[in-house]
Amino acid sequence: MNTLDQVTVQEALGLGETHASWLGAIESGGAPSVPLRLPSPHAAAALLMRLGVDARDAEEVAGTLPSAQGQPALWWLLERSVHLMRQHMGEPEVNTHWPPLPPGLGAQGRLFLAYLFLAVFEDVRRWHAAHGVDDAISWETLSSLGRAMRIHRARQGEGGVFEHGWMTLPFRACLYEIGRLQYTPFRVTEQWLRRWADPATAEPSVPGVAPGDPAVGIHIPASGPLTPASVTASLLRARALFAKPTPWGPCRIAVCGSWLLDEQLAAYLPPSANIIRFQQRFTMLPGAGNGDGSVFTFVFRRQGSPASLDDLPQRTALERAIVAHLRAGGHWRTRTGWLAL
Ligand SMILES: CC(C)(COP(=O)(O)OP(=O)(O)OC[C@H]1O[C@@H](n2cnc3c(N)ncnc32)[C@H](O)[C@@H]1OP(=O)(O)O)[C@@H](O)C(=O)NCCC(=O)NCCS
Repeated sequence: MNTLDQVTVQEALGLGETHASWLGAIESGGAPSVPLRLPSPHAAAALLMRLGVDARDAEEVAGTLPSAQGQPALWWLLERSVHLMRQHMGEPEVNTHWPPLPPGLGAQGRLFLAYLFLAVFEDVRRWHAAHGVDDAISWETLSSLGRAMRIHRARQGEGGVFEHGWMTLPFRACLYEIGRLQYTPFRVTEQWLRRWADPATAEPSVPGVAPGDPAVGIHIPASGPLTPASVTASLLRARALFAKPTPWGPCRIAVCGSWLLDEQLAAYLPPSANIIRFQQRFTMLPGAGNGDGSVFTFVFRRQGSPASLDDLPQRTALERAIVAHLRAGGHWRTRTGWLAL
């Protein structure tokens, strides 16, 4: 009989405070009615490679698949994590937090999410098919795992899944990759509308949108240039998907919040730059956040501020713009804009 519970698993795996709320959600979700089964190592490697994962990473995942007998505590965690993912398939309003496991767990900690995604693969594919997500979008979406594992290896020098929590979204049917862009459906709330209200009049800044209306967030993965043609093609396909009445639509608006929408960039980049052309598609909403952290992350691939601006590369027009603006005492901003879908 399996005598494991949240406390014994926490102790066995060395999980700390950062894992407490996640473990709580897992514990309250309960045990699955059907025991978890993972694919064979051969099938796992083949599927991962079909999802764009490099052979080296696919083989590491396949060669370290956990088992109930071999790693009972990790298996307990995996089985309940899979159950939680299945329970909240296609429910973006459920915000499940997935912290990385402690480094002391080695490869099976780093690759935990890959095991999880293998386990829910058939579930998310079924969900897509049942909700009118065509096969091409379904595969494109799930193949974002290949990019996430490549970025992790490039940054950390070992296998793993970059943007840990974010990557659970495509495998929970809450994020769609359609050509150049990613999309996250959501429902407009009172709070969301208030956040973007005109500060002078308190009137909603997005005309004709009411609480409960479906909408979609736009995200830009690091996957090559943001050409206007690729953006237009993606938006056209997204329109077709999110116009369907179920489960989200019909969506009238898409919103994007990003450092890429900072109008200050126009003082440094030519009007023909892809970033500037992208900005022009959006009507800006009021307010701005501090975007310095975002530019360090997305332009210089660093967490936090550099010790000195002299340390930052100056190869591209954007890299030079970022540094010149900061040297002049300015700050970058994150801005949010919307467009009619
Ligand atoms: C969004 C993105 C694809 C735009 O790249 P792009 O299509 O090349 O953009 P532009 O054509 O406007 O580029 C203008 C200049 O900035 C440079 N540039 C653009 N993005 C850059 C980046 N992330 N790092 C360094 N330089 C960059 C370009 O090389 C070009 O300079 P050059 O003329 O000297 O070569 C790119 O910035 C990127 O991959 N970002 C990471 C993902 C991201 O930021 N997502 C949003 C998260 S909120």
